[in-house]
Amino acid sequence: MLRIGMLTSGGDCQALNATMRGVVKGLANNVTDLEVYGFMNGYKGLIYGDYRMLTSHDFSGILTRGGTILGTSRQPFKLMREPDANGLDKVEAMKQNYYKLNLDCLVILGGNGTQKTANLLSEEGLNIIHLPKTIDNDIYGTDMTFGFYSAVNIATNAIDCIHTTASSHNRIFIVEVMGHKVGWLTLYSGIASGADVILIPEIPYDIDKVVDAINKRKSRGSNFTILAVAEGAIPKEIAALPKKDMKKAMDKILQKYPSISYKIAEDLQEKTGTEIRVTVPGHMQRGGEPCPYDRILSTRIGSECAQLILDKEYGCMVALVNGKIKKVPLKDVAGKLKTVDPKCQEIADAKRMGISFGD
Ligand code: F6P
Repeated sequence: MLRIGMLTSGGDCQALNATMRGVVKGLANNVTDLEVYGFMNGYKGLIYGDYRMLTSHDFSGILTRGGTILGTSRQPFKLMREPDANGLDKVEAMKQNYYKLNLDCLVILGGNGTQKTANLLSEEGLNIIHLPKTIDNDIYGTDMTFGFYSAVNIATNAIDCIHTTASSHNRIFIVEVMGHKVGWLTLYSGIASGADVILIPEIPYDIDKVVDAINKRKSRGSNFTILAVAEGAIPKEIAALPKKDMKKAMDKILQKYPSISYKIAEDLQEKTGTEIRVTVPGHMQRGGEPCPYDRILSTRIGSECAQLILDKEYGCMVALVNGKIKKVPLKDVAGKLKTVDPKCQEIADAKRMGISFGD
């Protein structure tokens, strides 16, 4: 008898179901006696014992379905060691539910915060495998996270749509792209859609350099400019401050404007006198069905996870490294962030053809 638990935690993405399907099909095909327990709404289900026994039927027909059949929630890592409102020790509660069900392994799908808790549970002695989910692609130790390329498609489509209307007007358009503290999604969708300016957190922007880029386009006869702006973009004068002051300064901006894009819009309006429009695709970027790339990546990650369970190999993340799916020790990657290297080839290639990064 093999008993596994599974949960999805943090923000959802398009390929969670596809990945869980990979795990369960990979196991069901190779063991006769399999029990799968799905914990509902992320770590909440594990803490409070909210779970369902699932059969392989639950995982059939979900390769193309976005969201997560298990539901999800955000349970901040920094609060995991703090008792809940009723004094419950959350870590102990999670361990007890794991042992009560006599699980051989718990498969945890999620991003950075989720991974830290997965590592904590592994250190507490549970058999854990983490599968790297996020549209942000910011998980250290894997070249790619599932969900990323589906979101790139959506953000790219959004900028493509803006392109056609932009070319009819003498305006500056800003499309704000998700990605939390990193610029992967903005970089990739910006390049894929031919954005003229790409602003990412890893390259703090100088607003005057953005104005220069707009003027350069004008002098060449282009009457519009499209900016792909990461939600975490940061002005260079603020990035230069000590961390605490930097946070204060950004908080002040976000008290005045709905997001950084609106501040950039106001600054550009003032400096160029040109009409500006801001578009925020927001959570659309996490919705809809997984793209073919993600379906393949998820299936491979899920299938490899099944093999690791069969081999009783735990305490790891299943990663994509140089085109190969392999296991990476959780303790080596938990708590680290994968940011865009400003000197990476993608950026050099983009700069060579005239895309401005505001630096
Ligand atoms: O981590 C995925 C993500 O979509 C980020 O890109 C974004 O900053 C955040 O989640 C939004 O979180 P929420 O869904 O809690 O608003």
